[in-house]
Amino acid sequence: MPRFTNFFGQGKAASAVWIISTVVFYLLFRAVMDNSTSTNTESLMSSSERRTRLYNEMSRDIDEHGMKFLQGGETSQSLMLNDIFELRGGYVIPKPKAADPPVRANVLYLSPEFSNPISKAVRDIFLPYFDGAIWFQNASLYHFSMFHASHHLTSVKATDAEIEAEASAVKEVARSLCPLKIFLDRVVLTSTGVLLGCWQVISGPDPVTIRSKLRNALRHSPEKQLYDPVMLHTSFARILGHPKVPLEDMKNSSDLLKFFHELVERVNSKIRGFEATISELWYVEEYDVLALALDGRIKVRKFPLGCSSH
Ligand SMILES: *[C@@H]1O[C@H](CO)[C@@H](O)[C@H](O)[C@H]1NC(C)=O
Ligand SMILES: *[C@@H]1O[C@H](CO)[C@@H](O)[C@H](O)[C@H]1NC(C)=O
Repeated sequence: MPRFTNFFGQGKAASAVWIISTVVFYLLFRAVMDNSTSTNTESLMSSSERRTRLYNEMSRDIDEHGMKFLQGGETSQSLMLNDIFELRGGYVIPKPKAADPPVRANVLYLSPEFSNPISKAVRDIFLPYFDGAIWFQNASLYHFSMFHASHHLTSVKATDAEIEAEASAVKEVARSLCPLKIFLDRVVLTSTGVLLGCWQVISGPDPVTIRSKLRNALRHSPEKQLYDPVMLHTSFARILGHPKVPLEDMKNSSDLLKFFHELVERVNSKIRGFEATISELWYVEEYDVLALALDGRIKVRKFPLGCSSH
């Protein structure tokens, strides 16, 4: 059972949330980006090759950086459970925290036709070992984070009128883009405990193109974005604690790491290669920290990818 000791103390909840959201959503990918943007060969590689290289690095992340989500025994786990989640009646429940100012995200949307089978496969494999220590992404809100008009590291305040103007600009971008046909290249578990789907494009606009159109349309957006421009990923789940397996099977951390690799391999053997079509771009105002990920308060404007040539 997870213990509910408060690692940082009561008054530090906000900074803990900041640390966790930063760790979960930023540090890993910034590290990956710093490693991968320095070489000249970069510009000669196709986006798809760059994605493969990025996903290779992400697959190695947990071997190279360890299972940070378990580090310090139960303290970091209870930090998560205390400050972002709580356990109520055996269920993990997120504790919403207002985002001030709200985050404004542009995401590609994966419809339930495709997200439900993925969600089921992930649940079937992980739930038996992590009941009460895992948070599953809501299958109605599977999304690919593309570009932020404002995010938690660099906030760009906007009036209601400016927000409307941003939404219209995004609508125009969506109109110009064709739907994407994609396939799931692989599932990876990061050192921060996030189970991610990493995708490749079969046809349609590349994420690099989509992000660059959004940047042109959203002139005041943060210069530094959260993800590598080639990246096309969805979050499936967040592991918050140790698996429920007999202790004698987990003598040391290499046994534990092997166990995680095997679970991820099982998911991969079920859903790797899964194909999907993306046909909506969403402009989302997130009123809570990590609202899209944690079922917080959001306001969504949905724009169909119109494939129009002007
Ligand atoms: C999942 O998201 C949908 C759409 O926002 C919402 O209606 C539903 O209540 C959410 N499910 C859970 C379990 O929170
Ligand atoms: C961990 O334990 C396994 C046996 O369960 C053993 O084979 C392995 O060498 C151990 N690794 C370390 C780093 O102690």
